[in-house]
Amino acid sequence: EDVEYNKICEKHKQLIETLPKVDGWWVQHMYNYHDFWLSSYILKNNLLLHTFFKSQPTDIFLASFMKTGTTWLKALMFSTLNRHRYNFSDHYLHHHGPQSAFVLLDLETYPITDFTNLSHPRLFATHLAHTLLPACMSSCKFVYVCRDPKDVLISKWHFMSKLRSKDQPPLSLDEAFELFCLGVSEYGPFWEHVLSYWRVSLEFPDKILFLKYEEMKKQPEVVVQKLAAFMEKPFTAEEEKKGMVGDIVKLCSFENLSNLEVNKTGVEKFANMVEVENRDFFRKGEVGDWKNYLSEEMKEHIDRITDEKLRGSGLIL
Ligand code: A3P
Repeated sequence: EDVEYNKICEKHKQLIETLPKVDGWWVQHMYNYHDFWLSSYILKNNLLLHTFFKSQPTDIFLASFMKTGTTWLKALMFSTLNRHRYNFSDHYLHHHGPQSAFVLLDLETYPITDFTNLSHPRLFATHLAHTLLPACMSSCKFVYVCRDPKDVLISKWHFMSKLRSKDQPPLSLDEAFELFCLGVSEYGPFWEHVLSYWRVSLEFPDKILFLKYEEMKKQPEVVVQKLAAFMEKPFTAEEEKKGMVGDIVKLCSFENLSNLEVNKTGVEKFANMVEVENRDFFRKGEVGDWKNYLSEEMKEHIDRITDEKLRGSGLIL
């Protein structure tokens, strides 16, 4: 295994020296690897996953571009799947941030964690585009969530401004807008990311449940029912009568989660390394907050890109 790892280090070094490189929103640099922008760390992690990660057929992955509703879905999927394990009046999510309910694969380092003892189905999250995933994962089920790119840009700009090192100059919204539109953004371009999952979802609809943040806001109950069925734990008539779907929606609502002590003061440590305050995952939780930040011209520019990129795909954002 160490021999394999040394080979990965060598390949990574070579890639870092040769791939197109730009400044990152968060970390210093991003590299264009198979058409997507990744930090040096995530690039190495990707090489590691391809060599060492072994999926199991029952694994369930939550895939998303950053800031599209990952935290909300982690809470919803976890509480739906484990609805018999916890009491809704004193729930796991009352004491733990939603991030802790999933393993974020993208931050695994060497040696990668032994996940064989996790209870089944194992829940993993990733921000990687579908085309960058190890082939072994293609037989597993995926939930993918996407969102209006204008709201994604605003959400990501706020989030990255918080995480960005104080040694770097602040990233202005104008700069972030320009980079986002060019597709230069961690794990991006946004549109190609969405399309990578959309195309597979058309081909294998039973393998990828494709969701939109805006639809989740409109009809959270419908989404929870879809999630349960997709994860092969549909609600029984009795559960529905007891109002369990509504209990889950309420538990995972922005208002409820963002006001919990653990999400106001707690910190999530990813892969024993990257620390992010739980409260940074909860900002406004609304549709259309971009209206408070983007000019009409900026709006039209993003909408035009979205139209052009998604034309003919059947997907409307
Ligand atoms: P805003 O910045 O627009 O408020 P991610 O979880 O993928 O990082 O996405 C974060 C976005 O989802 C943030 O959007 C955040 O406020 C919102 N969010 C977090 N929890 C939510 C919830 N329970 N319901 C609705 N939106 C939520």
